[in-house]
Amino acid sequence: MEFKHYSVMLKETVDGLNVKENGIYVDCTLGGAGHSTEILKRLKGTGRLIGIDQDADALEAAKERLKDFDNVTYVHSNFENIKEILKNEGIEKVDGILADLGVSSYQFDTPERGFSYRFDAPLDMRMNKESEISAYEIVNEYSEDKLFKVIRDYGEEKFAKNIAKHICMRRSEAPIKTTFELNEIIKAAIPAKMREKGGHPSKRTFQAIRIECNRELEVLENTLDDMIECLNDGGRLCIITFHSLEDRAVKNNFKTNENPCICPPSFPVCTCGRKPKGKIITRKPITASEEELEENSRSQSAKLRIFEKISE
Ligand SMILES: C[S@@+](CC[C@H](N)C(=O)[O-])C[C@H]1O[C@@H](n2cnc3c(N)ncnc32)[C@H](O)[C@@H]1O
Repeated sequence: MEFKHYSVMLKETVDGLNVKENGIYVDCTLGGAGHSTEILKRLKGTGRLIGIDQDADALEAAKERLKDFDNVTYVHSNFENIKEILKNEGIEKVDGILADLGVSSYQFDTPERGFSYRFDAPLDMRMNKESEISAYEIVNEYSEDKLFKVIRDYGEEKFAKNIAKHICMRRSEAPIKTTFELNEIIKAAIPAKMREKGGHPSKRTFQAIRIECNRELEVLENTLDDMIECLNDGGRLCIITFHSLEDRAVKNNFKTNENPCICPPSFPVCTCGRKPKGKIITRKPITASEEELEENSRSQSAKLRIFEKISE
C-alpha cells in the first residue's frame, strides 16, 4: 500500500525550524517524511537529519521516499529516547527538533493496524508493533473506572461512563476482539438522538484508546525538557499537536522553560537560581491556513508551537 499522508503546516513548521544549511536536525515523528523532505531540501554540506519513528513500516516508507538523500540516519525507536539516540550517534547537541504528533493517515488507512472504526480488524492500535499493550488489553483488561477515565479524558466523550459500563458488560460474556464489535458496543451506549451529532459515535472513544495504548501524552510530557536540553544555542523546537491536552502540555512546558524561576513574586531578586532555557516564539499557537483546511480536514485541530533555546 502506498504511504499517503498530508503533512500538516509544512511550510510554517519547517520555516519555524530556521534551518541552517550545515545544521543537524531531528524529526522525532518521521512518518511519511513530508516534513523531513522539506528540511533536507534546505540542508547542504555537513547538514544532517536524524529521523525517528516507532513504527517500522513508516520508517521503511520514509527510507524509500528519502533514498536520494545520503545524510539521513533512520532510528526505529520512541522519541522519548532522544537523549540516548543522539548519544549513540555521537551527537551532543542539534540545531532543531520537530515532532508532528499522533498517527499518520497511512496508519489510519491500513485496516489491519486496528486504528480505525471504519474497517473491521483486530483491536490493535499500536504504533510500535513490538509494544506489549495493544487496544485489546485496554478494552478487555482495564477496570471499568480506568476505562471511564481514559475515554473521558483522552476522548472528551460525554458518554464515557456508559461506554465503559457497556464494554465491561459485554466482555464479561466473551472478550471483545474487533473494531466492529467495539463500534457496536459504543453505539449501544450512546443515546440515539446524540449519535447523530459530532461525527461517528466511535470517533472519540477510539482516539482515547489509541492515546492510552501508545502513552502519547505521557511520552510528550516526559520528553519536552529533554528535547530542549538537546538543542544548541539558538536551536528551535517545533511541536504540532492535535489534542487540547497535548497542546496544554506543550504550552505549559514552554512557559516553565522560558521562566523557570520559582521565587515568590514578593522577592526583589531571584534567589532560586533557575535560569531561562530559551524563549517562546509563538505566544499563540500557529494554526492551519484556510487553503490547507480545505485540502486536509486533519489540520483542523492542529496547533504548532515553537521554542528557541538560549544559552543559560
Ligand atoms: C503525524 S505522523 C508524522 C508525519 C510526518 N511529519 C510527515 O510529514 O509525513 C506521526 C508519525 O510519528 C510516529 N510517532 C508518533 N509518536 C511517536 C513516538 N513517541 N516516537 C516515535 N515515533 C512516533 C508515528 O508512528 C507516525 O508515523
